[in-house]
Amino acid sequence: MARTDSDSWDLASSVGATATMVAAARALASREPGALIDDPFAAPLVRAVGVEFFTRLVDGDLDLPDDTAEARAASQVLTEIMAVRTKFFDDFFVEAAAAGVRQAVILASGLDARAYRLSWPDGTVVYEIDQPEVIAFKTQTLAGIGAEPAARHRPVAVDLREDWPAALRAAGFDDGAPAAWSAEGLLRYLPPDAQDRLFDDITALSATGSRLATEDHADAGAGIGEKADRLGRQWRDHGFDVNLSQLFYPGERTPVVDYLRERGWDVASRSRPEVFAGYGRQFPDNDELASLRESLAVTAIREEETA
Ligand SMILES: C[S@@+](CC[C@H](N)C(=O)[O-])C[C@H]1O[C@@H](n2cnc3c(N)ncnc32)[C@H](O)[C@@H]1O
Repeated sequence: MARTDSDSWDLASSVGATATMVAAARALASREPGALIDDPFAAPLVRAVGVEFFTRLVDGDLDLPDDTAEARAASQVLTEIMAVRTKFFDDFFVEAAAAGVRQAVILASGLDARAYRLSWPDGTVVYEIDQPEVIAFKTQTLAGIGAEPAARHRPVAVDLREDWPAALRAAGFDDGAPAAWSAEGLLRYLPPDAQDRLFDDITALSATGSRLATEDHADAGAGIGEKADRLGRQWRDHGFDVNLSQLFYPGERTPVVDYLRERGWDVASRSRPEVFAGYGRQFPDNDELASLRESLAVTAIREEETA
């Protein structure tokens, strides 16, 4: 179903299903030999969502995708991309904490369990923002299996196209103190103008020394859309009908690096192959993955404002 301005979802439908998809990939990535990440909450969360397709995937009852060695290699790369992406954002938060930042804001937190699995310094508050049903499901499911947050945990149930800064402040966020922000797996699901507003709002809430990590997909959408179509077809073949490529908002986007620099952030970016190399992995050099190679991992630090 096409997107609308006020659409909403749970973890088994629409954009919510993408959170279950990436959690399934984290579950698989956590079991790889020499795993880069360890997310013990991913598999239980995916099972609790109850979409048979994803449950079978994390339980090893489903081979994805089908037949050719090439297709299997592509699927393996998608799991590896999730491992590397997860590690990149984990390291971002660990470094921000080491630099003394004691507020973390995980935007579009989905089934991300960093609030529970990272070792946060005493006094850290972790805010998680996502749609109400997503927030309620994860918080209740993790409480139900006895998981305890490893920091002061403040879930904020609000749509990121609405006035989320007010909801964040109401949850206790202090814009006079630095914060570490992540926007992981989010931007494509926001309309281009909402993406710009998101960074405006983050900037307005960011005291000097705040940090931000996100990704930017230079590919204008065609290549990634085609990948999403293919994944969606595989899901349908296994009885799960969500059209992934329709979940992305089309349209030109302002490059994230430029946008942040213009707003007083000191920005660094690395290509996906560079991030892979940083973790001792090699991103495959083939045409099939060209659109995914274009993605940038972006980190930024809020500089002192000059008059
Ligand atoms: C691909 S998932 C990524 C989840 C998480 N960041 C991760 O990497 O595991 C996309 C997430 O964005 C959230 N999201 C997308 N648009 C949103 C919006 N307008 N308001 C709140 N959450 C949104 C979805 O609910 C979903 O949890």
